[in-house]
Amino acid sequence: MVSAGTSGALALSVDHLSKRFGERMAFDDVSFAVGHGEVFGFLGPNGAGKTTTVRTLGTLLAPTSGAATVAGLPLTPENGVEIRRRIAIMPESPGLYLRLSVRENLACFADLYEAPDATDRINRALRAVQLADRAHEACAALSKGLRQRVALARALFSDPEVLFLDEPTCGLDPAAARDVHELIDSLRQRGVTIFLTTHRMEEAERLCDRVAILNTTLRAIGRPDELRERLFAQTLTVRTRVLLPAPGRVFGGRRRRTVDRRGAPLARGRLPRAHRREHGGGPDMSTRRVRAIFWKDLREYRRNRSLVLAMAIFPLIFIIQPLIAVFALAASASSALAHEHVLLYMLGIPALVPVFVAAYAVVSERQQGTLEPVLTTPIRREEFLLGKALAAFLPSVVAAYAVFAFFLACVAIFARPGVASALIQGPDLLAQLLFTPLLTTWSI
Ligand SMILES: Nc1ncnc2c1ncn2[C@@H]1O[C@H](COP(=O)(O)OP(=O)(O)OP(=O)(O)O)[C@@H](O)[C@H]1O
Ligand SMILES: [Mg+2]
Repeated sequence: MVSAGTSGALALSVDHLSKRFGERMAFDDVSFAVGHGEVFGFLGPNGAGKTTTVRTLGTLLAPTSGAATVAGLPLTPENGVEIRRRIAIMPESPGLYLRLSVRENLACFADLYEAPDATDRINRALRAVQLADRAHEACAALSKGLRQRVALARALFSDPEVLFLDEPTCGLDPAAARDVHELIDSLRQRGVTIFLTTHRMEEAERLCDRVAILNTTLRAIGRPDELRERLFAQTLTVRTRVLLPAPGRVFGGRRRRTVDRRGAPLARGRLPRAHRREHGGGPDMSTRRVRAIFWKDLREYRRNRSLVLAMAIFPLIFIIQPLIAVFALAASASSALAHEHVLLYMLGIPALVPVFVAAYAVVSERQQGTLEPVLTTPIRREEFLLGKALAAFLPSVVAAYAVFAFFLACVAIFARPGVASALIQGPDLLAQLLFTPLLTTWSI
């Protein structure tokens, strides 16, 4: 164990840190330090502020007051990207792209971390969580516990200096939980600093060098055996002659109330304000990260049958009116005004389809809970948005061109020759070809 008391060797140092959501204090005036290579347990009941602390130290939320140093860097908006490069977070819920395979999920994150030897790292992480034989399965087909393991593999392969594990064994069977414990032991031997939140004292005792007990404020901190001695050893057994109707009123229900109290669920989905600020522009935009988001989105679209069907049918609506107009025209009525009107109508496709695709992309990230894990990688806001915009742009332009080509083929084959020759003219075709991508970009 590395003592946290020695300055200069601290992986985490937290100094009077607080986070408030409106009227509610999530955690208040919390101070502690974690040494390099230490496994530090963060124990507390529901709603104690454990996850909020992890999200704050992981740069997803800005603290209300106080200061901290994470992986050797002060917790400031400017250091957000560099801190995220040095840490990894396994969040409470796995947050996986369910239509993508296990390996595709990890490959996407390898690109977000710009990992140099991605395939090797992914293979090692998969072996570590014993998922090598299921790497090609879609995450949607995995059980809850197996998804937890994928999330763990994702947190491991970037070789973080500090690894935050938010209740990593929650929902796992005893054998799987034991595997995770062994994995944490092996990470400790490799010198990784681990910040582990848990509800379970015995898990903290088994794994942690030191434990902090949080219930909005920090209640105690020390070695697990010390804490057990201090908090749980002195018990008084009282036997009553008769059964008491309300024992809590006599002996004080404080402890039981603490255990039973439930915190309100963590609000998800909205891009945290601190993150929006921290992920603001920087000069070194990474094309690899943009490509990772782009290809990941395209894969998700392609594997969503409802979306593919909607993309095939929705644009066709825009050629019904033009086709009716064209076939209702007499051969002599092939005026410029008539065909301009027809072509303008079809520009509805590049104007509307991208909105539909982009809305789907956002809803899908929220539903799968993937925003949080993505935003804890070193990605910048611009890279994320550009990847998403390109992924909405490509299918929209392809759909618009395909429908336009279909329309022209119908006109060329079935319309009266006079109408067809008036409609199929070089400048109009060129205008349609140019306006489609311009309008798509504007719409996005
Ligand atoms: N985004 C948010 N907006 C408003 N309140 C929040 C938000 N996130 C957390 N809280 C509140 O902050 C408090 C601490 O929540 P947190 O999720 O950190 O607890 P926790 O210790 O992780 O609990 P659990 O063991 O249930 O996971 C709770 O009262 C919660 O309702
Ligand atoms: Mg939590």
